[in-house]
Amino acid sequence: MQKNQPKNIVILTGAGISADSGIATFRASDGLWESHSIEKVATPEGYARDPEFVQQFYNERRAQLLDPKIKPNLAHIALAELEAHYQAKGIGNVTVVTQNIDDLHQRAGSKNVMPMHGELLKLRCVKTERIVEWRSPEPVTDSDRCQCCTPPQPLRPHIVWFGEMPFYMDEIQYKLSQADLFVAIGTSGHVYPAAGFVANARSLGLPTMEFNLEASSNVSQFANSIYGRALDTVPRWVRSLTRG
Ligand code: APR
Repeated sequence: MQKNQPKNIVILTGAGISADSGIATFRASDGLWESHSIEKVATPEGYARDPEFVQQFYNERRAQLLDPKIKPNLAHIALAELEAHYQAKGIGNVTVVTQNIDDLHQRAGSKNVMPMHGELLKLRCVKTERIVEWRSPEPVTDSDRCQCCTPPQPLRPHIVWFGEMPFYMDEIQYKLSQADLFVAIGTSGHVYPAAGFVANARSLGLPTMEFNLEASSNVSQFANSIYGRALDTVPRWVRSLTRG
């Protein structure tokens, strides 16, 4: 282990880490929110108004995610290797807090993953919130119902929509309180509470660094910024932590 090597690392990831796997980001010129209305497809109100329209949006994204061409890239793989190295050497913990609803971190081998905005390959009963896996490109329709209620209830996407509370907030705060380093990869810093984690980290006295193609909207809060495509910059950083 190197001198001053961080033991416990919290890594926040956003759409940018999956961009090089072929999954569109949200706010780029060709981003999802350029061609889809947030109000219509990513709010509880939009779902209440037109559940079939919302299901169709997530059906398309799920079918894309399950396309064999979509794979974890070198950045996802490097983070999984970092976690395994830290585990094997007993250095400490690497926790990935992801805003992404794809399963590319898990597919790359990361175990400590907190999908704070939900998961595309899961649905949940609108009444009991019981979660159902849906690992098929088969479209979900409004006639797909739960098996936990009488009468059976609709199954909504297991996604955190705007105006809803993200998952794992207590666990994330705890991990930050135990951390030695906070890192953000491929996120624009537009959406809270995730965009506020860097301020929490700073208030805890943690070193902070961001990896992005360009400066994020909260770049001023990061002590270090590394620019470039995540699949180039992240493996290089991981090598700097795992050699020697
Ligand atoms: N490598 C590194 N960074 C990249 C790459 C890349 N190859 N491609 C894009 N980026 C960066 C962009 O510069 C941008 O800062 O990734 C960021 C993507 O920003 P957004 O599209 O805003 O995505 P994200 O920050 O994850 O959005 C947060 O908003 O829409 C909601 O719930 C949704 O989880 C999402 C949240």
